[in-house]
Amino acid sequence: MFEGFGQNKRRKINTESAAEAEHNKPWVEKYRPKKLDDVAAQDHVVNVLKKTLSSANLPHMLFYGPPGTGKTSTILALTKELFGPELMKTRVLELNASDERGISIVREKVKNFARLTVSKPSKHDLENYLCPPYKIIILDEADSMTADAQSALRRTMETYSTVTRFCLICNYVTRIIDPLASRCSKFRFKSLDSSNALQRLKYVAEEEGVKVKAGSLETILDISAGDLRRAITLLQSASKNIGYSGEDEVSKELVEELAAVVPESSIKQIVELVATRDFNKISEYIQEFTRNGWSAASVVSQLHDYYIKSSEYDTAFKNKVSIILFDTDSKLTNGTNEHIQLLNMLIKISQV
Ligand SMILES: Nc1ncnc2c1ncn2[C@@H]1O[C@H](COP(=O)(O)OP(=O)(O)OP(=O)(O)O)[C@@H](O)[C@H]1O
Ligand SMILES: [Mg+2]
Repeated sequence: MFEGFGQNKRRKINTESAAEAEHNKPWVEKYRPKKLDDVAAQDHVVNVLKKTLSSANLPHMLFYGPPGTGKTSTILALTKELFGPELMKTRVLELNASDERGISIVREKVKNFARLTVSKPSKHDLENYLCPPYKIIILDEADSMTADAQSALRRTMETYSTVTRFCLICNYVTRIIDPLASRCSKFRFKSLDSSNALQRLKYVAEEEGVKVKAGSLETILDISAGDLRRAITLLQSASKNIGYSGEDEVSKELVEELAAVVPESSIKQIVELVATRDFNKISEYIQEFTRNGWSAASVVSQLHDYYIKSSEYDTAFKNKVSIILFDTDSKLTNGTNEHIQLLNMLIKISQV
């Protein structure tokens, strides 16, 4: 009896934690596109892939582009559409940067998988999926593989191309050695434009029942600059922090606070101060500003955006200010004193 009680209890805990796990799943995973059609804003790539899908003849592929634009999601959706969830287990090998991928692994693991004959699909899979007669090896974050390991792939790719296709994924296409890149069809993923990204973000907010103030989703997208992963993550953390600011909606201020960007009002204040050319006032403000923990690097990039986008200034002014900002940015990267650099930068801009 005692044992039975223990088992029941255990079972209950298990089901609870499963539901909880689903609830606590990061939204980026929960809303990862499941089909090719769900992939937003990469129409060119999706169309070409769909065409190759209909002939079921896939080339080796190289996906490249900035973070959070759908590369990993696209290949996962593609393999699922090709093989279905069951057959995928034996037909797809996925290795990413967290796996050891030195030359020895390429020789062993990749080669062993590449040379395997293809497993037989079940009747159910054959009826529902294309089940082409090859396996797919996904090398995610391939730009972090050593050049030697990449070289070792060359022969493997050719020798086993009858039964295996490769998909290399990277952010920087120039870090893939030429002989590999030339063996692949290349697919460029673009930064998500704001209307597509907004649509996707709205969808997530609606599904999760998050209340958002007008304009806050746009702020999230501005901050994430085309990286949808960053945008969705920011929305999720904002939704968890709604209560703290005393409001019941995700507001622009909350988003800015969480993303550690300087509030727009402060940037405006800085610009106004600079226009007064009053050294003492600027110095005082900067002292208080750095004491509040704002980072100088974000002031530089936000001031850059502000001046460049504004129609109040002429091109000559923008040019000069840009040079000052670039200079400060490089000094900050080298690890100089933030306060002094910020002061120096604003004084210089005030003299333009
Ligand atoms: N084009 C897109 N359409 C729909 N959702 C997207 C798209 N791009 C990114 N996302 C969202 O962002 C998350 C991360 O996307 P994904 O892992 O595919 O990015 P990635 O391009 O592989 O980035 P990285 O280069 O950093 O690996 C996905 O789970 C999804 O929620
Ligand atoms: Mg990825």
